Amino acid sequence: MKNVKNSAIIILGASGDLARRKLIPALDSLRKSGKIGKGCVIIGSGRKVFTDDEFHKHLGSFDAISPILHYHSGIKGLRGYLDSLGEFKTIIVFFSLPPKVYADTADELHKEGFGRKTRIIVEKPFGYDLKSARELNRRLSENFEEEQIYRIDHYLAKEAVQNLLIFRFANSLFDPLWNAANVESIQINASEEIGVESRGAYFDGSGVIRDMVQNHLVQMLALLTMEAPVTLDSEDIRNQKANVLKTMEVIRSARGQYEGYRNEPMVNPDSTTETYAELELRIRNFRWEGVPVYIRSGKALGRKGTEIGIRFKSIPRLLFNADGKLEPNRIIFHIQPVTGIVIDHAVKVPGTDHDIAQSRLDFSLSDAFGPPVPEDAYQRLLMDALEGDRTLYVSAKETEMAWDVLDGVLDAGSPFLYRRGELPESPLGIDWIDFKEYKGDSC
Ligand code: BG6
Repeated sequence: MKNVKNSAIIILGASGDLARRKLIPALDSLRKSGKIGKGCVIIGSGRKVFTDDEFHKHLGSFDAISPILHYHSGIKGLRGYLDSLGEFKTIIVFFSLPPKVYADTADELHKEGFGRKTRIIVEKPFGYDLKSARELNRRLSENFEEEQIYRIDHYLAKEAVQNLLIFRFANSLFDPLWNAANVESIQINASEEIGVESRGAYFDGSGVIRDMVQNHLVQMLALLTMEAPVTLDSEDIRNQKANVLKTMEVIRSARGQYEGYRNEPMVNPDSTTETYAELELRIRNFRWEGVPVYIRSGKALGRKGTEIGIRFKSIPRLLFNADGKLEPNRIIFHIQPVTGIVIDHAVKVPGTDHDIAQSRLDFSLSDAFGPPVPEDAYQRLLMDALEGDRTLYVSAKETEMAWDVLDGVLDAGSPFLYRRGELPESPLGIDWIDFKEYKGDSC
């Protein structure tokens, strides 16, 4: 079994919600399964003053990590405290902190003596627009090299997102079709059932374009459309994503807001923040020139579903398509809640001369491999950071390019209103694939 040894894991903001709900349970499971091995320590750090015992009590019972879990109040003196616990090959520091303190915290850590051996992990949002993302990258780079900085995008840790690479580059069938000569359009959808719930304060300062599109959806699009990496090395993959991001351009966009959003807790009663966004993009490169890319994401839409649809060009108006009504082929990637791939194609209706019906090749990950092991993105992400694998983390170049793509449409125009629990009619008049009709939705 692969495991890490002699490593220190430091969580800043350890008494907060993310640490308690996600990070500590993930570390406990990793320890239980032996992946966090000999000579490892975990230090929680925060403004509160706790003894180790008080900290354990505050978190609840996590038996596996208990013997290696410590607490240190604040960053001052943290280096000395760590050294008193032993010598560590790798040190990772998770910023479970508000993004506005990332840069100052990096300064403080550096002053405390966290140098070349340290890797810092930061959560999104990474910046608020291109300017602030550049500034944050610049500030972090004053203290840490790019290879020491790990920017999380939890969508990259989803099985079905990782499978995009395999689908494209481990099959010879599809790559010849993956271009403007064959693809009519690309559609990426991320619908959420829930509204903003208790996250009004954060969300109202952000909106769907910053919260979902700039990172998760643009990252999926990059994996779907990038050129083949030279190797599977994380830098080769990240560079290919950056190359395609550089060529993306938004053509049109529209923003919406669900009725009642302004009455949500901690939301400004005059807010113009979008809870729904639709965009049309182009990828200005040789492979994709002329292919529209549609992106849609929203909250309170009545269903949870993330899908990618590739609609292929229609066959010529000859033989079976003289009236131009034959449905084009489609490939649908179900990212969640179930993971699978559907290929729509035409078949002859038995007993007729040549009546045509649509049929589906339907691959479901759980039918093929059994029910999925509950996915825990944080276990995967923490292990990768400990092992120095940055494939599932986003580079400085990628974040800046993604902001650059969207910079012109952030906060543009007033949002239209839509009813909670309903998918609004496309404000851009896009002929969306009805993803709901696919099997993925029934699970
Ligand atoms: C987060 C956003 O990054 O992703 C949330 O901040 C959103 O607003 C969430 O709900 C969606 O993630 P998932 O994994 O549930 O699709």
